[in-house]
Amino acid sequence: MNQHHPAPAVFADRHVGPRGRETAAMLDQLGYDTVDALVEAAVPKSIRTQRPLDLPAARTEAEVLAHLRDVAGKNQVKRQMIGQGFYDTHTPAVIRRNALESPGWYTAYTPYQPEISQGRLEALLNFQQVVEDLTGLEIANASLLDEATAVAEAVALMWRASKAKAGYVVLDADLFGQSLAVARGRAEAIGLPVVVANLSAGLAAGLAEHVSDGGTLPDGELVGLVVQQVGASGRILDARGVVAEAKASGALVTVATDLLALTLLTSPGELGADISVGSAQRFGVPLFYGGPHAAYIAVRKGLERQLPGRLVGVSVDADGSPGYRLALATREQHIRRERATSNICTAQALLAIVAGMYAVHHGPQGLKAIAERVHAHATTLAEALRGHGVEVEHDLFFDTVRAVVPGKAARLASAAAEAGYNLHVPDTDHLQIACDETTTPADVEAVTRSLLTALGSASAPARPTTDDGRTTSDVRVPAETGSAERASALPAELGRTTPYLQHPVFHTHRSETSLMRYLRRLSDKDLALDRTMIPLGSCTMKLNAAVEMEAISWPEFATIHPYAPADQTEGYAELISALEAQLADITGYAAVSVQPNAGSQGEFAGLLAIKEYHRSRGEEARDLVLIPASAHGTNAASAALAGLRVVVVKTADDGEILLDDLRAKLEQHAAQVAAIMITYPSTHGVFEEHVREVCDLVHDAGGQVYIDGANLNALVGLARPGEFGGDVSHLNLHKTFCIPHGGGGPGVGPVAVAEHLVPFLPANPVAAPDASGDGPAGTPISGTNHGSAGILPISYAYLALMGPDGLTEATKAAVLTANYVSSRLAGHFPTLYTGPNGLVAHECILDLRDLTARTGVTAADVAKRLQDYGFHAPTLAFPVPGTLMVEPTESEDLAELDRFVDAMIAIRREIDEVAAGRWTVEESPLRGAPHTAAVVSATGWDKPYSRETAAYPLPGLRHDKYWPPVRRIDDAHGDRNLVCSCPPVEDFAAADEG
Ligand SMILES: Cc1ncc(COP(=O)(O)O)c(C=O)c1O
Repeated sequence: MNQHHPAPAVFADRHVGPRGRETAAMLDQLGYDTVDALVEAAVPKSIRTQRPLDLPAARTEAEVLAHLRDVAGKNQVKRQMIGQGFYDTHTPAVIRRNALESPGWYTAYTPYQPEISQGRLEALLNFQQVVEDLTGLEIANASLLDEATAVAEAVALMWRASKAKAGYVVLDADLFGQSLAVARGRAEAIGLPVVVANLSAGLAAGLAEHVSDGGTLPDGELVGLVVQQVGASGRILDARGVVAEAKASGALVTVATDLLALTLLTSPGELGADISVGSAQRFGVPLFYGGPHAAYIAVRKGLERQLPGRLVGVSVDADGSPGYRLALATREQHIRRERATSNICTAQALLAIVAGMYAVHHGPQGLKAIAERVHAHATTLAEALRGHGVEVEHDLFFDTVRAVVPGKAARLASAAAEAGYNLHVPDTDHLQIACDETTTPADVEAVTRSLLTALGSASAPARPTTDDGRTTSDVRVPAETGSAERASALPAELGRTTPYLQHPVFHTHRSETSLMRYLRRLSDKDLALDRTMIPLGSCTMKLNAAVEMEAISWPEFATIHPYAPADQTEGYAELISALEAQLADITGYAAVSVQPNAGSQGEFAGLLAIKEYHRSRGEEARDLVLIPASAHGTNAASAALAGLRVVVVKTADDGEILLDDLRAKLEQHAAQVAAIMITYPSTHGVFEEHVREVCDLVHDAGGQVYIDGANLNALVGLARPGEFGGDVSHLNLHKTFCIPHGGGGPGVGPVAVAEHLVPFLPANPVAAPDASGDGPAGTPISGTNHGSAGILPISYAYLALMGPDGLTEATKAAVLTANYVSSRLAGHFPTLYTGPNGLVAHECILDLRDLTARTGVTAADVAKRLQDYGFHAPTLAFPVPGTLMVEPTESEDLAELDRFVDAMIAIRREIDEVAAGRWTVEESPLRGAPHTAAVVSATGWDKPYSRETAAYPLPGLRHDKYWPPVRRIDDAHGDRNLVCSCPPVEDFAAADEG
C-alpha cells in the first residue's frame, strides 16, 4: 500500500507569485540575503508590531469551502416578498457565467485607460442607455453605490444647483426607510435642513400637515423635492400635481423610482422631473443580503456637470473612429478634491454591467412582460385578500400589496414565514407583500392561503388533504390568464406611452449564442488581470482567486433579503462578526464596521465618527482636517461632505510630511483641528519614518488621526495602524482583501476605529431605535446595515486560506516585488521617492519629468505605448503629475515582473531614439500608440517606424499579442461633444468606410 500522503497544497503558495529560486534572484538583484532582511531594512522599526496576527491558522481550499458551506447553511433561504427596494430576480445563467463569474469582467480595473477598456465601457454605456430610456431623462451615470446614497446624492445635487444661500429640501415620507435615513444623515453633515412630508395630497397639503403636526419649515427657499413614484408603502404616486407645485415654486424635483415599473408607468422625465434615482438591482442582480447593487442617477440636460459618479461618453480615436471613454472627468473628486461635489470613486460597475446585460437579454418586450407578470401577481393577491374581507390600502400599486390587519401584522408575518415567505411588517397594523420576477402563481396562492388561514378567514376553511397527505388550496385565487387580460391596478393616465430600448443592442442578442458571443467579444477588447499584470499603484490589483469567489453565488448567500429576520441570517451574522474581528486584529483597532460599501464611504464614516466624538465632548469647534498634498482625492472630498474644512499640509522633497509645516498649521489652527488624514504607507510609496511623530503632534493638539488604509497591503502582519497612532482607518477590501475590482466596483470599505470612537460607528439605517442604548449610534452610511454583504465571503475566504503566516508572507512579497521593479528600472526610469535604506514600500513612483522635459515624451505616451506591449498602464499622474506609479503586488511571479520591466526598458530605448533625433516625438511610436490591427495592416503606412516596431516591438509579442481595439481616444473632443448614450450603429459603419 502506498504510505505516501503528500501534504495538502498550501493556498499561500498559489496566491503569492514568486517562489524559491525566483525570490532568490530578486533578492540578489536587491543585494539582500533573505526576504526578512529586506523587510527589516525597508520597514521602520518604529512602526513594526510586536504582536503576531491572532487569526485562525491557514486551511486548504477544500476545508475553507466545506466551512463556508457550513456557515451558509445557517442562513435560511425563503421566498423573499419583503420588497422595500430589494427584490428577488433571476440572474440569467448566461450573464452569471459569462460576466458576473467571468474573470475577464470581474478582474478588470476602472476604465481610466479607455483604449483597453472598450468592452466594459460599451457595457456600461448600455446600462446608461437603459436608465436614460426608462427614466426619460437625457443623461445617466454608471453608477452609484446604492439607492439610499443615490437619494442623498440627488439631494446634494439639488442644493448645489439651486445656488441658494439658505434653503431646505422636502423628502417624501413614502421614501424607503433606508433612503430617508441616509439622505437625512448626509444633509445634516453639510447643514442642509430636510423636511419629511406626506405628499399623497400634494406638496402644499403635505407641508401644511407637517406644520400642523408641530413641525417647522426651515428658513430660506424650498430648493428641491424628492418623491417616490412607487413608494415604500407600495402605492404609486400620481406625481403630476406634486411636480407641478414644486416647479411653480422654482424647486428642482427628483423622482425616486423603480426601473421595472417604468416599463409600465409614465417616466420621470415626462412627469417633469429634473433628476431620477433608484436601484437597478432587480435587473438580474442577486439580493446579496443588501448589496452590492448598482444604483442609478439620471438628470435632464443642463445638470450633467453636477452629476456625481462616473459617466461613460462617446468620443473619437486618433483615426476618427468612435471610441468610448469616461466623460467629464474634471468633475471627479480626483481633480476637484475638497471642491468635489461627491466623493464617489469606486462604484458598482460590475453590477451595472449585469443590469445592462439583463436588459440586452430580455429586450423591451421581455422587460415589459416581466413587469406585467409581477403586477398581475400583485393584483391577483390584492383581489384574493379583498375577496376574503381583508382591506388593501392602496388602489394604485405596482408590485407591493399593503394589507390593513389591525394588531395582527407580526402574527401574520410569522404564519407566512412558516409557509416559507418573508413579508414586510411596517407597523403592527399593516403587512406588505411584494411580488417580483421570481413569484409564481403557486407562491401567490400559498402566501394568500397562509395569511387567510392565520386570520381564520371564514372563507379559508381548514385545508383538506389529498390522497398522498399534501394539503390543497382552498383559497380561490383568480387563475393566471396572461398579463394582457389581468385586471390591472394601473389607470391609463399613469401608463407609459413612450417607447424605450430602441437601440439595436436591445434587440440583437435574443439567442443565447448571440449573447454569449457578445459578452465574449466585449471582454476580448479589454485588458483585465486574466491576461496581464495590472501594475496600478494605489490600487493593489492582486489575485482574486477562483476559490474565494465560489460562495457568493450560493443561494444561501445570494438570495437573502437584507431585512430577513435575524433567525434566518445566522450564517451571515457569524461570517460578518468573524470578519470584523479579524480585520480589527489586523489593523490594531477596537472594532470594525463593514457597512461602508467603498473606500470613500469608509472615509466619510470615519470622519463623521471623529466629528461626533468631538461634538460629544463639547468640542464642535473642531471642524478642520489637515490633509497632505499627496492624499487621494477622496480624502478631501469626504471631508467636505462631512462638513469639515480642509487645510493642506506640505510634503518635503523626500515625500515625507513636512513636520515644520505640520507644526505651523497645528499652531495656527490649534483648537479647530478635528483630524489629520494621512495615508500609510504614503501615496508616495514609502514607509515614512516619522509617522509616530506626526500622530503625536496631532494628538497633542487635541486632533484625531485618520489613517487611510488603502495601502494596507504593505502592512498586514508587519504593522498595525491602530498601534502606531491611528484612531480610525478605512480599508479597501477590494484591494488588500481580494475583492475583485469589477471594472470599477463593487467595493467594500470597512471603517475601523479605536475604542473611544466605537459608539460613533455607522448605525443600521433601518433599525428601530435601540431601547437598550447598545449598538453604534453614528450616521448610517449605506442603505443596508452590512453594505456589500454578498461579497464579504470573498475576503473571509482569503483570510481563512492564507492564515496569519500566509498573510504576512504576502505582505513581504509585495514589498519584494515593488523593490525589485524599482531596482531593475532604476537606470531607465528613476524612482522618485524612497524610504529607509533607499527602499520603497509596496509601490514605486517612476519619475518621467526629466525625460519629458528633454524629449517631449510624456508619462501618458508611455502609458499608451505599454498597451502595444500588452500591458495595462501603471497609475498615471497620481500623486505626482508627470509620473507613473507601479504596484506589482505579491501575486505576480518573476516571469511577469520581468516581462513588464523588459517592456519598460524597451520603451525607454524608444524614448532615447526620440532624444537622439531618430523620430520626432509626434512621429514616434510612443505618440502613435496604441496601434490597432487595422492601422498596422492598412495598405498605406506613412510612419517613420516600421509596422513591426508598431505592433511587435519585442519578439515575445509574436506569440501573445493583445490588439487594442481603438487608437488613442480624444478626451477633449468627447467633453466638447458630450454623448452619453449608445451611438447609432451607422456611426461605426461610417468610420469603417471612412
Ligand atoms: C489611497 C486611497 N484612498 C482612498 C481611496 C478610495 O477608495 P474607493 O475607490 O473604494 O472609494 C482610494 C482608491 O483608489 C485610494 O487609493
